[in-house]
Amino acid sequence: MADKEGQLDTHDYHLHRAQVAEPFPLKGCQSLDWGMQNRLSRIFDPKSGKTVMLAVDHGYFMGPTSGLERIDVTINPLLPHADTLMCTRGILRSLTPSTFTKGVVLRASGGPSILKELSDERIALDMEDALRLNAAAVAVQVFIGGEFETQSVHNMTRLVDAGLRYGMPVLGVTAVGKQLTRDAKYMRLATRICAELGAAYVKTYYVSEGFETVTASCPVPIVIAGGKKLPELDALVMAYRAVQEGASGVDMGRNIFQSQAPAAMIQAVRHVVHEGMQPGEAYELFRSLAGK
Ligand code: R5P
Repeated sequence: MADKEGQLDTHDYHLHRAQVAEPFPLKGCQSLDWGMQNRLSRIFDPKSGKTVMLAVDHGYFMGPTSGLERIDVTINPLLPHADTLMCTRGILRSLTPSTFTKGVVLRASGGPSILKELSDERIALDMEDALRLNAAAVAVQVFIGGEFETQSVHNMTRLVDAGLRYGMPVLGVTAVGKQLTRDAKYMRLATRICAELGAAYVKTYYVSEGFETVTASCPVPIVIAGGKKLPELDALVMAYRAVQEGASGVDMGRNIFQSQAPAAMIQAVRHVVHEGMQPGEAYELFRSLAGK
């Protein structure tokens, strides 16, 4: 119990200073509750407002993807360079050091493997487990235009409701089926639907024409997936353009862990995303870090 004797009188009320309430720096997230904003601050660097998420959740439908055969060997050494790790709860519990204190975004939908129709997903994670694992957000695949579009949207809205109950942001991941055109018109549709239905932020693919209209018409932050492995310079150009055209960062997997020098690549990506480094300069940095 505090000692009542000898307490100093209160007097320092700063009467001539208005109370300061810093605005939350993330687009469209000002009205979220404190816990939700705090979690998003473990994903997006509060200084740059951007994030480099390291995506290693591919095994949830692809099995041991190239570069992810031994996550303890290939991915854990990259963790110091990532703002956030995106993975499944299986990998988190079995292989990720619990001393990792940055944001973890947990894969929360799944079901079909690459052998089946991919859009037929269900919710694959209980919000209680996401809280138990101290996740910073949960990610759900949304297949706009896919065979199971309504089911996948329903997966997301169920998670959004549970997330709002507990202060857990939901990342809506716009998944592109083989038959769908990957253009700005489609991305505007898919990202906007995710945001309208409550996703705190949205992951989509970069498109070279009109991407700025995708970020402009989505009221919450957008991060881009890396997609299939590209030559390193091309991946850095893509990240640069995406950020210059309004993206709040990347959620990049194969273009980092399938690089010839993953640690060099993620550091080069960081410079592009957080500091706006030109891709040519970032590529030189990659080469020098890779010892080429
Ligand atoms: C896709 O299955 C996962 O959601 C990945 O996290 C996402 O596609 C990003 O990884 P990549 O940069 O390899 O496309």
